[in-house]
Amino acid sequence: MRLLIINGHVIDPSRDFAGSADILIEDGRIKTFAKEGRIKENQGKPEPRVIDAAGMWVVPGLIDMHTHLREPGFEHKETIKTGALAALKGGFTTVCAMPNTNPVNDNAGITEFILKMAQAAGGARVLPIGAVTKGQRGEELAPFYAMREAGCIAFSDDGRPVASPVIMRRALEYAKGLDALIISHAEDPALAGSGVMNEGLLSATLGLKGQPSVAEEVMIYRDIALAELTGGRLHIAHVSTRGGVRVIRQAKERGLKVTAETCPHYFSLTEDAVAGYNVNAKVNPPLRTAADVEAIKEGIRDGTIDVIATDHAPHGREKRTRQFDDAPSGISGLETALSLGLALVDEGVLTGLELIRKLTVNPAGILCIDKGALIEGTEAELVIFDPEKRYVLDAEKMISLGKNTPFDGRQLKGRVIKTICGQKVLEWD
Ligand code: DOR
Repeated sequence: MRLLIINGHVIDPSRDFAGSADILIEDGRIKTFAKEGRIKENQGKPEPRVIDAAGMWVVPGLIDMHTHLREPGFEHKETIKTGALAALKGGFTTVCAMPNTNPVNDNAGITEFILKMAQAAGGARVLPIGAVTKGQRGEELAPFYAMREAGCIAFSDDGRPVASPVIMRRALEYAKGLDALIISHAEDPALAGSGVMNEGLLSATLGLKGQPSVAEEVMIYRDIALAELTGGRLHIAHVSTRGGVRVIRQAKERGLKVTAETCPHYFSLTEDAVAGYNVNAKVNPPLRTAADVEAIKEGIRDGTIDVIATDHAPHGREKRTRQFDDAPSGISGLETALSLGLALVDEGVLTGLELIRKLTVNPAGILCIDKGALIEGTEAELVIFDPEKRYVLDAEKMISLGKNTPFDGRQLKGRVIKTICGQKVLEWD
């Protein structure tokens, strides 16, 4: 199979390139990347299928460092198959699966199961993230070495914090020996209490328990201090607060090896989305204030925040039918991330190249994987994206089983048109 993509606006952060280029794909691999002019050489080979990408962005397959796929155990929320297909529709050809399944991914057997199911699913590549502690109970370290051997790309107790500083210290020490990454769900459980939204005037008005920003900030401080002590590699998940951005910025200024991500909802929405007890805007950490949103954008702009990850957290009926206090937290995010990210470009926070960097080479570098670049000889993983296409999101039409999104019914701009993955060319309406 030969495929020639012409006339596109190609963005490849791995070579600092954004401009017109043609790309020839042969047998599922990138054969030629030509910055100028058409690729003419057919050399007796069959004529390629030509994709005219005029007006489109052509970018490397995106990498999501933070996805909840729910299988095993919560297949009514998402299966590995539906999640891995939803990822492709959103432009993600690689997703990292968080371990808060049932059973938890805290041993090599579960890791192998996830990899086997992902292989059979034929969607995005799935890289499992192992739990830091057995059962994510925060008491005893999971067997990192065996899980790493089985294919875990990093370790995290995401969904809940590692409450004990002693356990987190040991995790960072042990992971350092394996050169493995620890991803912190930064939430001080005592300060967060049973808060279900951001603490402030609005939570008081709504009569809901609030979770203060300082619960995140304190835990980021703690984990950075422990990373400094141990020399372990630390990544902070879903940063949502102004204070969190500030602490990470200071740590980076001191030369510490910490990286960080935020998610589209933290730069697209404020806590006001919760008004009316909208469960689809219930997420953990919670949506914050306008000042936090501005600080997150500044952190994205100045590089304090390295990565945009989805924290795709699909839920089923239990999200719709329970009261706000009892409903599970999370937003189904794989299929809207790129559109929401594009708004940062339209607002002038990032260039297109910088946006795609935070969705490709930056996560690839942190995860130490050879992905997210348009390099000759590598497997073809590309996304063709129309940055001008406007559409009204219909959650019911999303591939993900999780229809829980506060963006349902909202007009969004920018849509994935095609995802190319090896020999497959998937076309989306
Ligand atoms: O809102 C969230 N949902 N935050 C998390 O940390 C976990 C996630 C989930 O698993 O549903």
